[in-house]
Amino acid sequence: MSASASEKVSPSRKHLANQLAESVAGALAVDLSNQERVLLLVSGGSTPVPFFRRLASVDLSWERVDVALVDERWVDDAHQDSNARLVKEHLLQGPAAKARFHSLTTAHGTPEEGAIEVAERLAELSWPASAVVLGMGGDGHTASLFPDSGELGLALSTDDATVAVRSPSVPQPRITLSASWLHQARRHMLHIVGDDKRAVLARAMGGDDVRELPIRVFLSCPLAIYWAP
Ligand code: 6PG
Repeated sequence: MSASASEKVSPSRKHLANQLAESVAGALAVDLSNQERVLLLVSGGSTPVPFFRRLASVDLSWERVDVALVDERWVDDAHQDSNARLVKEHLLQGPAAKARFHSLTTAHGTPEEGAIEVAERLAELSWPASAVVLGMGGDGHTASLFPDSGELGLALSTDDATVAVRSPSVPQPRITLSASWLHQARRHMLHIVGDDKRAVLARAMGGDDVRELPIRVFLSCPLAIYWAP
């Protein structure tokens, strides 16, 4: 999303982003008082931009914060669809520029080839993560746990950190953190906006088939819901 597009965020969405940033910053500050380094996991997509911008301005010991994504599109870091690019442009700015970012991609041609190297990279970080901020798509996917992906069962069941994912709904192959590694986090937040996503979430809460709406796998974490119209 471009800077000008993100400036058009409605007041309620901006307020929501500010509240989420306050909550995540508070969680990081608590954990930073107890441990040397802390890990924050964030999502890509379009929703997080105002949250990233607000969080980036918070005064924290950012030099002791590791940041990683919950999933990534297998594209170059400079590609417009890169979640790493989004994080660098909007979160790793101002005070937060001192945080250490850990990318989910490698020089390999495919996520299948790169997944182990990324998992080894992630294993060096301070688990459990202090917080994971999830997003959700209109099909109930979160991270890259897509209902129509052949790798969904694996991503929901493996103890490995990463899974290479293909979905007919998205243009590029992806890499995702597995449900079990995402579950490990101390705090889970879901950041969604709009009536369509509220309806999907309501549907998810009314049933328990995780393969139909993968967000369900996090509904009992517990999951703090940050929603605005
Ligand atoms: C990604 C994500 C993904 C995202 C949802 C919501 O790389 O796309 O991490 O899980 O959170 O698709 O995306 P929007 O915020 O763009 O609606």
